Amino acid sequence: MAASHLTVVSHAAEQRHLVLHRGVETPTREFRQLVGEIATLLAYEATRTLETEPVPVQTPLETMEGRRIPRDTIVLVPILRAGLGMVDAVAALFPNAGVGHIGLYRNEETLEPVSYYFKIPPLGADKVYLVLDPMLATGGSASAAIAKLKDSGARHIRLVSLVAAPAGVERMKRDHPDVPVFIAALDRELNEHGYILPGLGDAGDRLFGTQ
Ligand code: PRP
Ligand code: URA
Repeated sequence: MAASHLTVVSHAAEQRHLVLHRGVETPTREFRQLVGEIATLLAYEATRTLETEPVPVQTPLETMEGRRIPRDTIVLVPILRAGLGMVDAVAALFPNAGVGHIGLYRNEETLEPVSYYFKIPPLGADKVYLVLDPMLATGGSASAAIAKLKDSGARHIRLVSLVAAPAGVERMKRDHPDVPVFIAALDRELNEHGYILPGLGDAGDRLFGTQ
């Protein structure tokens, strides 16, 4: 699946979570939990094609060969702030994953991303970077974050977002055709303020109770 640029993961459980998640009445605590649950399902898909290595397992009856993703392969890279809401859930799947942070916010007038922080674990040729951000709107933030990752030497990058607008998907395809994008929903359009419609509002504000 990672061969195609866009994968819309439409698992029934995920669709149910998204219905709850989008609701304007959904309180912060539940919203956070739902972001984590959807991120888990997306992370399974985003890592489905990763190479595995053999690992011996002693069952109660005999020895067998299992498979696992090599330790230290995966690096999680949340885009601050809202991407932080996805980290704990994905790290529960990959407990050895390193975590890098990219700080970006959108200028409310120009919608251009403004960079304020960048720190990632030491590079490795085989490392796979899962960039986490719930919202792919104009695509400016994801594109800039991935450009920074590439500038610092990262080669294998995948973007995991909950809700995307067509403009963001197009931007990613244009700027980073080598980066597969995994989302739970492809929404209709952006409004004049760059918010996704129908969307779920401002993901960072809803996760952290700011506004
Ligand atoms: C949101 C979201 C993305 C970005 C998406 O972050 O988490 O990073 O907007 O928009 P784009 O695709 O048009 O760039 P925001 O700028 O609100 O910052 P925050 O997470 O710190 O609130
Ligand atoms: N950022 C958000 O948090 N929500 C949107 O709809 C667009 C950008």
